[in-house]
Amino acid sequence: RWVAVLSGGLSHEREVSLRSGRRLSAALRSVGLTVEEWDADASLLTRLRSNRPDAVVVALHGGEGENGSVQSVLEMLGVPYVGTDSRACRRAWDKPTAKAELARAGLATPEWVVLPHATFRELGAQPVLDAMVETLGMPLMLKPDQGGSALGAQVVRDPAQLPAAMVGCLAYGETVLAEQFIEGVEVAVAVVDGPDGPYALPAVEIVPESGVYDYTARYTAGLTDFHAPARLDPVSAKAVGELAVAAHRLLGLRDVSRTDAIVGVDGTVHFLEVNVSPGLTETSLLPMAVEAAGESLGDIYAGLIERAVS
Ligand code: DAL
Ligand code: MG
Repeated sequence: RWVAVLSGGLSHEREVSLRSGRRLSAALRSVGLTVEEWDADASLLTRLRSNRPDAVVVALHGGEGENGSVQSVLEMLGVPYVGTDSRACRRAWDKPTAKAELARAGLATPEWVVLPHATFRELGAQPVLDAMVETLGMPLMLKPDQGGSALGAQVVRDPAQLPAAMVGCLAYGETVLAEQFIEGVEVAVAVVDGPDGPYALPAVEIVPESGVYDYTARYTAGLTDFHAPARLDPVSAKAVGELAVAAHRLLGLRDVSRTDAIVGVDGTVHFLEVNVSPGLTETSLLPMAVEAAGESLGDIYAGLIERAVS
């Protein structure tokens, strides 16, 4: 049996994905699998047809790797793969869609508005920003509605910073998701599909030195302190695990996912977003959660591969 680990690709998170792919490939080899590392570029289709692996593991981040595009190709070719199917990827990848889905199910998520670029042209930038502040208050969290690794994301505490922050965000996409910024403990909770259904790994608490968990704080060793398991009281620890499993189930995710959340000062757990292809780099959260659980990354993914092919 041999598997192809897809990494790289064309998104803004290409470099992160190459690191995830390397780490995952090493973990899979360490448990005895034969692995080829493939860069998911334009040759992917030809490659899949001429040299068909027994299974594919998608270690792509951002864009076509998480929005369902690559998964659609694998489905069309009938190649078994680890990860969420194309349809659920599309919904989970779009942050406002995922938030709306979970809010409908009664879960807490920061209040939000969605601002397509065209809105600014049609109504004028200042009136749109004023209406947004009127609706959500301050401070705000701005993010591209689709994206990852905090690229383009900004915390805004002063309305005067809003125009520049919007421009920074729109550099990564056509639409901005603006959310109320919630003070509290930031956690990431990985979920794995086990034999008895999805289960949560211990939450990982994120404490960036700068106060903001941006791209640099994510991928530079030493710039963020992590606590795995998170320093939460037992009630909150249980609640974040339940939230992550609920998100995994409600969004129809498969094999593995990671939910990012904030435990507010009043103890409310707020859903932020879900990741269908969690980062697997040296500073990424899922490998820390796996270690805290006393499990091994190679064993977990080997199990998921086994299920994908059977
Ligand atoms: N988007 C990055 C890879 C993550 O969620 O870990
Ligand atoms: Mg993300």
